[in-house]
Amino acid sequence: MQNLIARIHTCGVIPVVAVEDADQALPLGEALLKGGLPCAELTFRTNAAPAAIRKMCRAYPEMLVGAGTVLTVEQAEQAAEAGARYFLAPGLDSEIVEWCRGHEMLFMPGVMTPSDISLAVKAGLRLLKFFPAVAAGGPAALKSISDPFIGVDFVPTGGIHAGNLAEFLSMPMVRACGGSWLAGRQLIAAGDFEEVTRRTAEAVGIVEKVRAGAA
Ligand code: 3PG
Repeated sequence: MQNLIARIHTCGVIPVVAVEDADQALPLGEALLKGGLPCAELTFRTNAAPAAIRKMCRAYPEMLVGAGTVLTVEQAEQAAEAGARYFLAPGLDSEIVEWCRGHEMLFMPGVMTPSDISLAVKAGLRLLKFFPAVAAGGPAALKSISDPFIGVDFVPTGGIHAGNLAEFLSMPMVRACGGSWLAGRQLIAAGDFEEVTRRTAEAVGIVEKVRAGAA
């Protein structure tokens, strides 16, 4: 699991994607890889999620494919069976936490308050999704609520884009940021995968710049 977390950190950005048609996973994976990002979170906001996860994993084994908006144990089972390597969710569900523990699956539940973080830490989790990152108060809020929790890391998601990515990524407790701006529904519906690649390459450039500055 540490290796997986290290790879997510290396990526720096997790594109959050909802595909309506599982076949879209193929040009999507190609576009993300071309932009330099071998990772994606395919969300259960659409019924195509399990089939899309399976197709992306098969076509691009080098990609770190995760499942997002995992709200039920049934979805967890479907996602794992399709090949997802990690799960995210908007909140913390103890049944899913238990399932992930039993199946050695990395689970990053959404947290927004110190109480949320306390519950997650008590459940043995150390990498959490700070959600909704911007609406919850942005970097200042994350700093305030995370300060007491030494050793807990975060993946801020919700309202992140090329303009505020660097600010979040520069925070020491941030492993990576998630967001749908790289491959939003409209871009995918329009088949504009060139724009997905452009936005991905732009995000990768920001990650590299932040890391070079921090080195
Ligand atoms: C998610 O599902 O994690 C969020 O909806 C992503 O947030 P964003 O669309 O603001 O990037």
